[in-house]
Amino acid sequence: MYASFKSIGSYTPPKSLTNKDLEKMVDTTDEWITQRTGIKNRYIAETEQSTSDLAFEAAKLAIKRANIDKSEVDAIILATITPDFFCMPSTACVVADKLGIKNIMAFDISAACSGFIYALNIAKSFVESGMKKNVLIIGAEKLSSIVDYTDRTTCILFGDGAGAAIIGATEDKSKAIIDVKTSADGQFQDFLVTPGGGSKNPCSQNVLNEKLQYLQMKGNETFKLAVNTLTNDVKEILEENNITSEDLDYFIPHQANFRIIDAVGRKLKIPKEKIAITVDKYGNTSAASIPMAINEWYEEGKLKSGNLMLLDTFGGGLTWGSALVRFALEE
Ligand code: UT7
Repeated sequence: MYASFKSIGSYTPPKSLTNKDLEKMVDTTDEWITQRTGIKNRYIAETEQSTSDLAFEAAKLAIKRANIDKSEVDAIILATITPDFFCMPSTACVVADKLGIKNIMAFDISAACSGFIYALNIAKSFVESGMKKNVLIIGAEKLSSIVDYTDRTTCILFGDGAGAAIIGATEDKSKAIIDVKTSADGQFQDFLVTPGGGSKNPCSQNVLNEKLQYLQMKGNETFKLAVNTLTNDVKEILEENNITSEDLDYFIPHQANFRIIDAVGRKLKIPKEKIAITVDKYGNTSAASIPMAINEWYEEGKLKSGNLMLLDTFGGGLTWGSALVRFALEE
């Protein structure tokens, strides 16, 4: 039995936050943000919307496009760093309830921007082992709930959104996910961190006074490590599977910064027209960024069934991962 990438769906909240809007909030300019990041816009969830609401919309679409009934979903894995609730219940359980799905395995994973690739890896293993037949994987974030909108070094980067896919069982090897690699190195744990609110530094007045509940990032250090790690990771997965960059239809990387994507694309000699860029429109949506980009390429009519996608990501932890995936959505 093989695991196949059977569908894609995404959801973007309606409210946009442009660089011009940010110019009024912090000491920054549209020019600086565009030059340093490639970002022009991002979408922000409504106050009453939580991560599970975004995830629910993306999941509904992924289930519909996979041509299955919701009763056929036998596991839900949700990747997020902005769960609805701090400890429990998991956002996956909340989404299962919203979808009306009961009595199946549902859990969250925490791997920051690499969360969707981690979920893909777990789902692939579940399906290949015969344990599950249709795993719903979701990357969903309401990053606006952990961004400090007085900190110009981070607030210009992040947006909200969700993406979802069904990873299903198939006997057809031509539709199989070829490979997924995931990895981590905790020695760089302080590069991206929300220092307050966890068991190390529980919620207190001091945490709030010091704004320790918000995301902090060593941007420049992260940038350099991201380019090298992503490049090496992609080289490895291509070599191990005897695939060259010419064999790829699309390179769909994590959308953190246009300059990172551009540098990796150049090092790997991947033509520009094969590289999916959505960071200009959505900013960095962490675990949601790759499925949102896949969905965008699909809805624009670029991504077709049978196309070979290379996915690649990097994020807090530090974590990273890549995947060689045949898009297997049947119209
Ligand atoms: O998704 C998870 C992984 N995350 C990433 O991969 C993010 C990686 N990092 C980045 O994308 C980039 O490092 C940033 C976009 C965050 C920053 O770009 P940079 O080219 O690395 O800039 P920098 O941090 O070295 O800052 C350069 C200057 C500084 O001023 P001084 O010290 O040179 O006077 C900053 O204070 O730019 C200043 N600056 C800003 N200026 C205007 C920082 N943020 C802003 C801003 N507007 N928003």
